[in-house]
Amino acid sequence: MNKAVRKTIIAGNWKMNKTPSETTEFLGELKNAVQDADCEVVVCVPFVDLQNAVAAAKGTNIKVGAENLHFEKSGAFTGEISADMLIDLGVDYVIIGHSERRQYFAETDVTVNKKVHAALAAGLKPIICVGEHLEQREQGITAEVCSLQTKVALKDVSAEDLKNIVIAYEPVWAIGTGKTATADQADEVCGIIRQTIADLYNQGVAEATTIQYGGSMNAKNAKELLSKYHVDGGLIGGASLKTEDFGIIVAAAK
Ligand code: PGA
Repeated sequence: MNKAVRKTIIAGNWKMNKTPSETTEFLGELKNAVQDADCEVVVCVPFVDLQNAVAAAKGTNIKVGAENLHFEKSGAFTGEISADMLIDLGVDYVIIGHSERRQYFAETDVTVNKKVHAALAAGLKPIICVGEHLEQREQGITAEVCSLQTKVALKDVSAEDLKNIVIAYEPVWAIGTGKTATADQADEVCGIIRQTIADLYNQGVAEATTIQYGGSMNAKNAKELLSKYHVDGGLIGGASLKTEDFGIIVAAAK
């Protein structure tokens, strides 16, 4: 099979960084740095930055994503944001189940699955995060953990809908720590996730699914990680906050 059948996606995850005015300024610079991209370029930004991001990305090759959503359509959920609200703003992608949301905001595989369905129903493209903790890697259960998270996240998702889904393999021990998985480790686990998808659907569907790596990907290590067969892009935190570094990572995705 040829890796070129899949879309390569480089997505920034800003986390809780940048104000709306900083967003406008940053995207004004970023659009020049990524205008020749050979891949899909996405910036996932805080809710309050979305409107400015969508406005600044208009007419460019940059797509905008949110970092979370609620799974209900509307109602008494003070402080929450629905899929329809994001769509109305012009948002294309949404990160679901990032390990920080699982760790600090009690998200589970079950709520991740509900959010995936809410996003798909509204027309948003979910970027679903899965990944093992350090203790789980040391216990030798990385494959089981990532496979289980993938299976539950995709419960009752059709093969047709899977075309709009991106999986991000993010080993928790590599996020924000400067410890990157080696390119071979990233390739191995992205391959395990692909096999899980093949078992759930079929080989063709699995081969067409974009599976990113995330966790301390940066301007120096991106090329090697992205050269691996099963690694179809990156979900980038820290290095997505600097136009130069993010531009280099996007350029590495040829
Ligand atoms: P990092 O974050 O690149 O800063 O490690 C990645 C992520 O959390 O998506």
